[in-house]
Amino acid sequence: MATPCSSSRLRYLIHLAHDNVDFRLPEIKALLALRGKPFHPCENFNEQSPFWCLEGLSEEDVRSVMARSVCAKSAFELWGHGQTDGNLRSSLLNYPPQSMSPFMHKDSTYRINVYTFNKTLQFQDRIKKIDALDYLPFEGTVSLKTPQHIFCLLEDYGTDPNNIPEDPNYIYFGRWIADGQRELIRTHSVKNRHFIGNTSMDAGLSLIMTNHAKVKENDLIFDPFVGTGSLLVACSHFGAYVCGTDIDYNTIHGKGRSSRKNQKWRGPDENIRANLRQYGTEKMFVDVMVSDASKPVWRNAALFDAIITDPPYGIRESTRKTGSYKENTKLPDCTYVESHVPVSQAYHLSDIFTDLLNFSAHHLVLGGRLVYWLPIYRPEYCDEMVPVHPCLQIISNCEQMLSSQTSRRLITMEKVKEPEESDIIAHLSDPHFSAYQGHNAFREKYFSGLNKRCGKEDTKYFNKN
Ligand SMILES: C[S@@+](CC[C@H](N)C(=O)[O-])C[C@H]1O[C@@H](n2cnc3c(N)ncnc32)[C@H](O)[C@@H]1O
Repeated sequence: MATPCSSSRLRYLIHLAHDNVDFRLPEIKALLALRGKPFHPCENFNEQSPFWCLEGLSEEDVRSVMARSVCAKSAFELWGHGQTDGNLRSSLLNYPPQSMSPFMHKDSTYRINVYTFNKTLQFQDRIKKIDALDYLPFEGTVSLKTPQHIFCLLEDYGTDPNNIPEDPNYIYFGRWIADGQRELIRTHSVKNRHFIGNTSMDAGLSLIMTNHAKVKENDLIFDPFVGTGSLLVACSHFGAYVCGTDIDYNTIHGKGRSSRKNQKWRGPDENIRANLRQYGTEKMFVDVMVSDASKPVWRNAALFDAIITDPPYGIRESTRKTGSYKENTKLPDCTYVESHVPVSQAYHLSDIFTDLLNFSAHHLVLGGRLVYWLPIYRPEYCDEMVPVHPCLQIISNCEQMLSSQTSRRLITMEKVKEPEESDIIAHLSDPHFSAYQGHNAFREKYFSGLNKRCGKEDTKYFNKN
């Protein structure tokens, strides 16, 4: 006789979206870590598959992951699985009847869905597949509109759209538990956002960054290159207080030229606070201010639970910092002569990242995360180029292609110790440091003949973003 499934023996099936494949594992791991749970895949785990089977979780754990995930579509309590209908049947008949019965008794109502990945089935074929499950002890009544319980037969036909097998490679059956937050990608789309700019971050990616950063309710989050505040919008959605800085006065104050097609100037209320108001999270807005990320303006303390940012690459926006190349603008007491007008000088990409990591080491709480994008010239990339810091441990490094030659990498780091004097020196003497000086050349490579072949494609991307 089959033994009952204790909650620790239960298996859950997560159905994942097939875009942003690289970002899914760090997202699910981070969301489980928020519950203090490890990521424990079942045997034959394949990261590329749209279906992941996990164990060691409770239904509550799974619900809380789905309440945040934008990479996961749905989650199921897995009742059976196999490579063929026969294997599925044996597996289902092995599932403890006492674990099934609360959802199948005669007073219950239910519905069975059929989901196929990489193949579209005719309605009649779906019905046949449902009928073939008649060996399951359903005693309740079918209700298509308002069922108490939803079950799903999920068939995996592989990931190659040019080579779809006749029969599925794998079949799963389970009880639906919850859907993920894919809908947020639509409701928070920058297309309908009140205040946008040329480089506003896509809603889905902003939410993914927020999840990688393990943002939680009442956290304080900072974006040092805040732009139009897309990352603040995502963080505030999950209940965090948000603040940011940007060197651009017009962006912070919502003035100047509009990025919208049919509008010349920004309207009177086009600003970051209004963006949060649009999504009902204005109360999470702390403030934004004009400030240069290369200059120390914060008191010396660990202030932020996470730092999430999209630094300038110099493609659609300039990489500038305040400062003059002239030596004589500052007086000996560090004040400026009265006639001084701040000017700007180039802010090299490698310096942007050094400053960002040093800033994060000093201003993140212990265990806090830094999540940022690193632009990459692909033919020259190696993992050693990712900036390191003795106080920050790399958690994940995911690639998003921009063209055949360029991409950006979403880097997640966690603060593991408080900085000491020697850490700054150790950082600069680290052999990795010289490798990422090469990032200074990203802009030149991007616009050079090396990238011409896909120039159109890239321009389209950066116009959109
Ligand atoms: C890629 S954009 C950020 C876009 C933002 N994530 C959004 O959704 O709108 C980079 C931003 O960094 C700002 N920036 C450039 N140099 C800076 C500096 N030295 N200090 C602070 N902000 C700077 C630019 O004005 C720009 O708004």
